[in-house]
Amino acid sequence: MADIIDGKAVAEDVVSRVKSLAAELKAKNGVVPGLAVVIVGEDPASQVYVSSKGKKAKECGFHSVQHTLPAETTERDLLKLIDELNSDDAIHGILVQLPLPKHIDSGRIIQAISPEKDVDGFHFVNVGKLGTGELETAFVPCTPAGSMLLIERVRGKDLSGLNAVVVGRSNIVGKPMANLLLAANCTVTIAHSRTKDLPALCRTADILVAAVGRPEMIKGDWVNPGATVIDVGINRVPAPEKGEGKGKLVGDVAFDEAAKNAGAITPVPGGVGPMTIALLMANTVVSAYLRAG
Ligand code: GUN
Repeated sequence: MADIIDGKAVAEDVVSRVKSLAAELKAKNGVVPGLAVVIVGEDPASQVYVSSKGKKAKECGFHSVQHTLPAETTERDLLKLIDELNSDDAIHGILVQLPLPKHIDSGRIIQAISPEKDVDGFHFVNVGKLGTGELETAFVPCTPAGSMLLIERVRGKDLSGLNAVVVGRSNIVGKPMANLLLAANCTVTIAHSRTKDLPALCRTADILVAAVGRPEMIKGDWVNPGATVIDVGINRVPAPEKGEGKGKLVGDVAFDEAAKNAGAITPVPGGVGPMTIALLMANTVVSAYLRAG
């Protein structure tokens, strides 16, 4: 049976380091890291994520601001708010929760965020730095950065020559994840909905990252014996036996089957999820340090 990777515990380690860095920055430079989270509309999942981010920021001793805007907010008004946050010296990180309502061009909004405050790592400047291997000065998207830390916990820092398969090609997870693994000298394949014979490809992976948003799509016999499996999916499925209630959370990997083959695997919940928030805090404290000089 696989080792279960305790993302919650690793995230707590990261957060405790962030707390001491924030305290040190305040003591030495009088700077308190500031994080602004913007949410537009009333998507229930987004509301849960945003409120966890705000709570964690407070726990880290940050100045934490949430802007909750109605679904009808215009692109112009949102751009105006971003402008204000860009020039607010108390704010070191700006996060606009995605998805945005359809009438707003998300790309335009993301590119309006100052790259120095882009703690999500979605701005072209940060995407470009990651793509060219300028990892020292890039803000790296939180979910892939957190996933890398979990992989390193299992396999050590030297991932050189390992075969990595990333299932999913989103800008938020799949592509940056592939770039991080490539920067770590893995041989990387990105799979997606048009990939031929996905099960056979997955079986070649020493490191398998699932980020497709389809409940339990990756089956146990797709997992190479001993592989490290990182499940980024968080899918709510209805509870079939009751037909009521909120249902349970499952990942993109059929956990029980996969755990029989994997060397190590992240659970859902309690795997990658807590790491995403922890890395957002880490990016924010780094941003505050960089500005403090
Ligand atoms: N929606 C889902 N994941 C993310 C994320 O990492 N950042 C933002 N801003 N929105 C998201």
